[in-house]
Amino acid sequence: MAVDLKSRLGHVELPNPILTASGCAGAGRELAQFFDVAKIGAVVTKSVMLAPRSGRPTPRMAETPSGMLNSIGLQGPGIDALLQRDLPWLLSRGARAVVSIAGGTVDEYAELAARLSDASGVTAVEVNISCPNVEDRGQVFACDPGAAAAVIEAVRARIRYDVPVFAKLSPDVTDIVAIAAACVAAGADGLSMINTLLGMAIDTTTLRPVLAGVTGGLSGPAIKPVAVRCIWQVHEAFPDVPVIGMGGVRTGLDALELMLAGASTVSHDPSACPRIVRELEEELASRGIDRAADAVGLAHESRQAAIRRRPGSVL
Ligand SMILES: Cc1cc2nc3c(=O)[nH]c(=O)nc-3n(C[C@H](O)[C@H](O)[C@H](O)COP(=O)(O)O)c2cc1C
Repeated sequence: MAVDLKSRLGHVELPNPILTASGCAGAGRELAQFFDVAKIGAVVTKSVMLAPRSGRPTPRMAETPSGMLNSIGLQGPGIDALLQRDLPWLLSRGARAVVSIAGGTVDEYAELAARLSDASGVTAVEVNISCPNVEDRGQVFACDPGAAAAVIEAVRARIRYDVPVFAKLSPDVTDIVAIAAACVAAGADGLSMINTLLGMAIDTTTLRPVLAGVTGGLSGPAIKPVAVRCIWQVHEAFPDVPVIGMGGVRTGLDALELMLAGASTVSHDPSACPRIVRELEEELASRGIDRAADAVGLAHESRQAAIRRRPGSVL
């Protein structure tokens, strides 16, 4: 059975719903030796800040059961290098680029957005709001509806109207729907979920924290149920807002699970991108679903009812 994998990020159409996750493959260049970067839905670049950054001291990674802790500290070359080197390269390869931005103040996000507004080849902007607000005691933007909205409003005002802006949410909040609501009201065209969960590991030999930065973000299979829950809750509240889902996706079946919860596209560890595209296609076909878009939010009662009413429904 032929499956139509075309997917949408807001009004932008992608050839398939599989994207890289920000931070897991720089700006895409290192992936070209493994697969054709134009063949996946889009490359999501590592969150870029205004100035180059060296990141946190090492060790920055710790293995944990079913997941990994990282405290990279947004190491990166800064926006100039992205605009002059990485974005043109992605464009020359025919890849679609979702540019992820990060800042320490609302003004920094605004400045990044202004710099991106003139660049060609930006398919969408993902705003990483899981950053400490240096003007508010280091309180993470993504954990406060007002601060999250202020960032999104500033970015949306400066990005070209035809480039969708996605707010990347943190699961480390009591009510993710409240944060999602604030971002949507501030003009976000879509939401990305989920960033890593804050965790920590202690070396019981040295009796000290494993990571030099003490705490780190937990990713990998351990967090998939949290991702499914967050996407589910937000899709229930805002069924028309597109979601880029991520968190513990390793196979096409995992990607399908996030889509059934409500994700329109799915991001993950880039090494497996082409395999996950193939596996997702097989999983959809084996369920009689001939369009990837039909799987989005399909686990929700309201969507099931709507699909059952269609002639020739597979349900
Ligand atoms: C090493 C590493 C670096 C990351 N860097 C970023 C980043 O720069 N910006 C961002 O929004 N998310 C970053 N993330 C979070 C991922 O994009 C993703 O949201 C998270 O890891 C959950 O997905 P996963 O379980 O498939 O890895 C990073 C994750 C890892 C493991």
